[in-house]
Amino acid sequence: MATIDKDSNELTIFKIPADYSLITFKQVDSTNKAAKRLVNSGNANKKSIIISDEQSNGYGQRGRVWESLKGNLHLSVLLETDKQLKELQELVFLTALVMAKYIAQVTHGNLDIKLKWPNDILIDGKKICGILLETIKFQNKQFVIIGIGVNLSKTPNVQDQAVTSLKKEANIQTLPAEFTSGFIRQFDTEYCQWRQDGNFNKIREEWKKLAYNLHQNVTINNGNTNISGRFHDIDDHGAIILKTSNGQMVTINHGNLVF
Ligand code: BTN
Repeated sequence: MATIDKDSNELTIFKIPADYSLITFKQVDSTNKAAKRLVNSGNANKKSIIISDEQSNGYGQRGRVWESLKGNLHLSVLLETDKQLKELQELVFLTALVMAKYIAQVTHGNLDIKLKWPNDILIDGKKICGILLETIKFQNKQFVIIGIGVNLSKTPNVQDQAVTSLKKEANIQTLPAEFTSGFIRQFDTEYCQWRQDGNFNKIREEWKKLAYNLHQNVTINNGNTNISGRFHDIDDHGAIILKTSNGQMVTINHGNLVF
């Protein structure tokens, strides 16, 4: 699918699976918000991707600002689904895994790529990608929105976090349209498989091979408190399991692994 950018007359080529709708913006508040508006208008198809060159109000986990610079990827994958919320959380892990493999592929497997529980991708310990999963209902339909930000060519300034870009790490200049086209095909193959067989165990085992700090002492911040322990495993929906110093196993559904 080719779209003409009216402002610059550039031809942007997206090669995406035929059953996806494509919505592109030069500038939008947030592609996740645009996805929600589309759902609320009653016009959302079963599968869409929404992409914007820039976002004026991009956001991440816990409402943190996601600085959205032109040249980086700001993508939301919008999917109609009848799965339960607990199962939908598994899509964060599926998406991170596909993205990590895709980054490894485009960089010829030379980088130290790790998956930081639950939703970050790191290269050499520095964040390159964040994923934000949201759900929305409209009438009797339910949708999941997978918001994905990847630092392709720009490295934003983020307080209290080391950040990097694909350009910095691998000296690769890739356009968001080109990157999205490669990623979405691989994502869709895995998504269709998961939707059909519901097999999270396969994804979980692969995810763990790339997990950052697995079997190490970690601290999880769940919004109110910090909980520390040895990163033992993730459970059958992706919750993190820590073994605390008194030998207790603690399962945490939502939180953030503190560096
Ligand atoms: C995080 O690391 O906290 C998740 C960041 C998610 C950012 C992406 S960029 C595309 C989509 N639109 C948004 O406003 N956020 C997500």
